Amino acid sequence: MPARILRHEYEVLLDMNSVPLPTAPGSSIQAVLWSGNCLRLLDQRLLPETEQWLECWNAADVAQAIHDMVVRGAPAIGIAAGYGVALAALAGEPLEPAIAQLAAARPTAVNLGWSLARMQRRAQAGADAAALVVEAQLIHAEDVAMNQRMGELGATLIKPGSTVLTHCNTGALATGGHGTALGVIRTAWRQHRIASIYHTETRPWLQGARLTAWELKKDGLPACMIVDSAVAHLMHVRGVDWVVVGADRIAANGDTANKIGTYQMAVAARAHGARFMVVAPTSTFDRACPDGGHIPIEERSAQELTHFKGLALAPEGTHAYNPVFDVTPATLINAIVCERGVVENPDTAKISALFESTP
Ligand code: MRU
Repeated sequence: MPARILRHEYEVLLDMNSVPLPTAPGSSIQAVLWSGNCLRLLDQRLLPETEQWLECWNAADVAQAIHDMVVRGAPAIGIAAGYGVALAALAGEPLEPAIAQLAAARPTAVNLGWSLARMQRRAQAGADAAALVVEAQLIHAEDVAMNQRMGELGATLIKPGSTVLTHCNTGALATGGHGTALGVIRTAWRQHRIASIYHTETRPWLQGARLTAWELKKDGLPACMIVDSAVAHLMHVRGVDWVVVGADRIAANGDTANKIGTYQMAVAARAHGARFMVVAPTSTFDRACPDGGHIPIEERSAQELTHFKGLALAPEGTHAYNPVFDVTPATLINAIVCERGVVENPDTAKISALFESTP
């Protein structure tokens, strides 16, 4: 991973007073932009109808935007939080409360805590506000580079002519650019390995229907949407070679938290002989978390199930349970693709080896 090179490039770019991030080949989409003194976020609650940007001027704005899912997707949340710390520093706010507020915005994606810990270490080492802005930009730029690397690594696992199925949105909108699982699909598509792309609609927030479909259409990749409950049927009647998903937190043993519904896709994949790939950068691994049972699972409002855009979908008073992530056991995962390498049939020893053998 060319972190050192990127740092160097960034120092040069900053000297030149121009800091455009490298755009990811294969996708022109960027949802997180640093504009010098504020953070601009493409409001993902409004897509696909409206492309509207929200400006964040302090850490509290960023924490609110993460909580409200203006920005979502584990890596994008981490990137936004990094800029949140930089905004706090620029405003002369004390950093510890700002970091605590950002950390509390959403519980499952460990990229949030990873990014905040990195910003905190830089601050403790004496970085001033300008240096913290650079650190946040590095987190951002490195994420794009990691996605491109994972795209290449993951694509090699996909044989030409394959049918792939993905869940939620793991593309440029969910990351610094290119995407994790969708990055693999983008790269594999460019390499003519993919015959058909399916994606779920991803109830209840519709990340698949609203965001993945929007991204794929914008980038000219043909795809076909299914309802979440059609996954096993699709595998049975049309066949799926690879399920390719992202992750919000990967425990030390490879158990993986991702968007609700991922677990049942892995069960269905095993039952139908489809292979199951998780794509996530180093920032998504939580090696202090021994297994999936220790991953905090976010529950959101019952209203997300009972209502849509203010319209009641269920009788008043209907009780609803709305966990928004689930845990897929490592035993159902054929491969975890990280920018450091590919771990097949993951377990604690293989994941330790991945982290110990590479920088
Ligand atoms: O609730 P969300 O939209 O933030 O959930 C996103 C996911 O579950 C993604 O699959 C995951 O964050 C990986 S994004 C590269």
